[in-house]
Amino acid sequence: MASAEEYMNNKLAERETAGSRRSLKPQNHLIDFSSNDYLGFARSEELKNKILQEVALNPQSFNGSTGSRLLSGNLTYAEELEQQIAAYHQSPAGLFFNSGYDANIGLFSSLPQKGDTIICDELIHASIIDGARLSFANKYTFKHNDLASLEGKLKQAKGVCYVVIESVYSMDGDTPDILSILNLTEKYGAHLIVDEAHAVGLYSAGLVNHLDLQHRVFARVVTFGKALGSHGAIVLGSTVLRDYLINFARSFIYTTAASFHQLASIKMAYIFLKDAEARIDTLHKNIAFFKQQLNTGAACHLPASDSAIQCLILNSNSEAKQMAEKLQQSGLDVRPILSPTVPKGMERIRICLHSFNTEKEIAMLCDTINKIINEN
Ligand SMILES: Cc1ncc(COP(=O)(O)O)c(C=O)c1O
Repeated sequence: MASAEEYMNNKLAERETAGSRRSLKPQNHLIDFSSNDYLGFARSEELKNKILQEVALNPQSFNGSTGSRLLSGNLTYAEELEQQIAAYHQSPAGLFFNSGYDANIGLFSSLPQKGDTIICDELIHASIIDGARLSFANKYTFKHNDLASLEGKLKQAKGVCYVVIESVYSMDGDTPDILSILNLTEKYGAHLIVDEAHAVGLYSAGLVNHLDLQHRVFARVVTFGKALGSHGAIVLGSTVLRDYLINFARSFIYTTAASFHQLASIKMAYIFLKDAEARIDTLHKNIAFFKQQLNTGAACHLPASDSAIQCLILNSNSEAKQMAEKLQQSGLDVRPILSPTVPKGMERIRICLHSFNTEKEIAMLCDTINKIINEN
């Protein structure tokens, strides 16, 4: 009989050879250019105190939710908060999931049926790919941000069709032309779903609201673990969609609900977000400053991005790892993104900018990158 240990060791050795073996690293105290805490909410003492106050104001709350939402774990507080968050995003309804990963798994595995079609941008997040894999619908990808490619797939679509994009792509940081994609989607009677994980915060309520397209988009996924500095997610859409997901989304049904403390963190983060204009302005200024300071010339490719995610595309896992190591040695926390997380030949360092990064820190990051590139 074959051995599981042998199988695992072989697969890990393959990863080692490809330079892509993953391992957990302890937290460090370098200058943060890698976390998704774009607005500094996760580290805010002020927000932490608001959360503690909210917990103290609800002494009857339990430590844990005690069960799934459909059994003992449903809190009135959760239902009210879903309504408040949906109203903030100008959506008729919303349903919490324990993470963005769970939200996408639940939505895409339960909604598109056999005979239906899911069309995703080729750079769509792994959670959407995994959700779609669990569905029996036909699946297509279109070339990144390419309307002609999308139209080609829309022409082939059968049944109910869902077009799926991110408003800020998680690995490239760029933004699609949402209005043109929406117009095309509507022309073919398809439904647009937008994952707003990296756009909420950067554009307050997200890019869909920023562009005033919320009434035309079929559904949105908003995650709380990035700019909101917390954890969890909400699927925004119609009341029928919410009801449908309560009945059919297995990652909603068969899991323990969020604790009161987590819900309080999300609630306070949203209150904080409504007052975060200064942080959002500083984040945009920092992004512009970074782009102005960086001077890599033709040495490496930078996808056009106005978001907090900025990437330097290098050619291999070893190049990306070396660049990240050199930056870390200079006190800068920048992480390499390796294949197979990104396609081979598109390995990169992914830089996340934050409202709390100072100009001095950003200048130091850019100078160090410019120096490393010019040395090579
Ligand atoms: C675009 C996108 N969607 C969904 C997720 C998953 O969200 P979460 O981290 O809450 O599981 C991520 C996180 O990496 C993401 O980048």
